[in-house]
Amino acid sequence: MYKNILTELSDRILFITINRPDKLNALNIETIGEIGKAVRAAEHDPAVSGMIITGSGPKAFVAGADISEFADYSVQEAIQLSKHGHDVFNHIEQCIKPVIAAVNGFALGGGCELAMACHLRLASSNAKFGQPEVKLGLIPGYGGTQRLPQLIGKGKATELLMTGGMIDAQQALQLGLVNYVTEPADLLSRCTELMKTINEQAPIAVSEIIRTVNAYYHIGKDGFKEEIDRFADCFATEDFREGASAFLEKRKPVFKRS
Ligand code: COA
Repeated sequence: MYKNILTELSDRILFITINRPDKLNALNIETIGEIGKAVRAAEHDPAVSGMIITGSGPKAFVAGADISEFADYSVQEAIQLSKHGHDVFNHIEQCIKPVIAAVNGFALGGGCELAMACHLRLASSNAKFGQPEVKLGLIPGYGGTQRLPQLIGKGKATELLMTGGMIDAQQALQLGLVNYVTEPADLLSRCTELMKTINEQAPIAVSEIIRTVNAYYHIGKDGFKEEIDRFADCFATEDFREGASAFLEKRKPVFKRS
């Protein structure tokens, strides 16, 4: 079904593995399109409650956009390339189901941008992050100039963007770029554990958390107003009735996304 990614459903979690290990999982247009397609399909599939995105092989999550593909691009082609990346990565960020990046090695350029579009990031101890576009005479084109300052603050983000330097997993943890660092062998199981904890919560409320947290970063959106509206929407759900009843009856809730 896909040429550049692998998908596997396990315990209601869809694992999306970018599978171009000989190119360190560099993102060509086709691969970005396939990631977008897989995320959209999973979002509407009741069998899927969340997604974990990782890279194939021991070395890289994603070593960036595929430089060989855009080396001769015109300005017009660059606009299309960037817009396509934005569409897919914005969709991941706004996906109503949780998406975790399992960063298993280099997350450079578009790889760092893909990880930042996910809702949470876990890194293996050998992971390396950076936005090296400046070394190519470019700036990030898939949201990196916006999401990096959102996650780690303007000063450090500007330094990383201007120098094109790399940081390791521990530095990424200290800066808040990743939520946890694990041994490489434990990365997927730790991501799965975290996803399962999220999946035990009320799914509509999880979707509303994604929406309202994103609203904070949306120019023109009033995040506080969004919170009032989404908070109120939760009161119309069966899951809220169930969650509140379960608490009062001292039992475990059974949520149905309804
Ligand atoms: N685009 C296209 N191909 C890439 C790539 C990218 N972003 N990153 C790696 N590759 C390819 C290499 O060209 C090489 O292919 P080849 O074997 O056909 O020559 C293969 O992946 C392995 O990469 P290599 O550079 O040999 O591995 P390394 O361990 O020596 O170095 C990196 C690893 C990540 C430091 C290095 O590959 C790199 O700097 N990549 C580009 C990072 C970047 O600038 N990303 C932002 C792009 S906008």
